[in-house]
Amino acid sequence: MDNKKIGFIGAGNMAEAFVKGMLKAAGPLDLAVSDLNTNRLDVFRNQYGVEGVTKDNRKVVEYADVIIIAVKPQIIPAILDEVADLVLEDKLIVSIAAGVTTATIEKHLPDGTRVVRVMPNTPALVGLGAFGICKGNNASSDDIELVETMMNTVGISVVVGEDRMDAITGLSGSGPAYVYTFIDALADAGVNMGLTRVNATKLAAQTVLGAAVMVLETGIHPMQLKDNVTTPAGTTICALHELDKGAFKSTVMSAVEAATKKAEKLGKSSK
Ligand SMILES: NC(=O)c1ccc[n+]([C@@H]2O[C@H](COP(=O)([O-])OP(=O)(O)OC[C@H]3O[C@@H](n4cnc5c(N)ncnc54)[C@H](OP(=O)(O)O)[C@@H]3O)[C@@H](O)[C@H]2O)c1
Repeated sequence: MDNKKIGFIGAGNMAEAFVKGMLKAAGPLDLAVSDLNTNRLDVFRNQYGVEGVTKDNRKVVEYADVIIIAVKPQIIPAILDEVADLVLEDKLIVSIAAGVTTATIEKHLPDGTRVVRVMPNTPALVGLGAFGICKGNNASSDDIELVETMMNTVGISVVVGEDRMDAITGLSGSGPAYVYTFIDALADAGVNMGLTRVNATKLAAQTVLGAAVMVLETGIHPMQLKDNVTTPAGTTICALHELDKGAFKSTVMSAVEAATKKAEKLGKSSK
């Protein structure tokens, strides 16, 4: 990563998260960032020391070896058309736009262009993102490795075939919203049982964080961890019984299925 020139088209929240994470992980890097909004460019120059800030997307493509496209999905085709003639063989194009397939990206670029697609999620903004990565027709395993290294500066990633990217959208892409809803439900429950809102929210969020770290760091199956805290005839099993009556697990599975199907549908309509 540190011997590559890296460019961002779009200086929004996601680009900022990646620049912050990469600088923290790798130290000074050769970076360039473009955006129409000069306030955003000022943020990259003043807070992160990026000297190559510009309103001209073409300059970023000319400069960089790896170009990360971090604009809203609906303007991706226009951006690609704007820079396509500058995308030479040695450039790697990385898209983080939700729902835009590698085939759509490749269609707007010269034959043979190396494309990698990433589905990020917003906890990348605090260095705890979860990413799905897939390759286009011409990207190599070295390209995938490089993108994984970049993504892992702000979270963890899995590499999948593109036919799994909608499932990743349904699980980890939209997932933070499900978890916020769960945290809010736990906090409401705490308030209902007499805790203050501030304390209930703090305890609920930390409980989700702690349980998640237990799963990731111990490698123990979640249901084994559940059994470990479930005393016979204790409090936890009473609560689990109530969750089961409400079809908790089945509801979560249906939610992810619905989001995956919606992502599939949106992907088809954007082709
Ligand atoms: N945020 C998430 O949770 C999330 C999760 C998964 C995937 N993603 C994907 O990540 C991508 C970026 O998301 P984000 O949240 O970082 O978006 P964002 O904060 O809106 O950033 C996009 C930036 O691109 C700028 N822009 C608009 N038109 C441009 C143009 N023609 N040339 C150059 N820059 C232009 C925007 O400026 P203006 O604001 O002035 O228009 C904005 O500063 C999206 O494709 C999204 O699908 C985001």
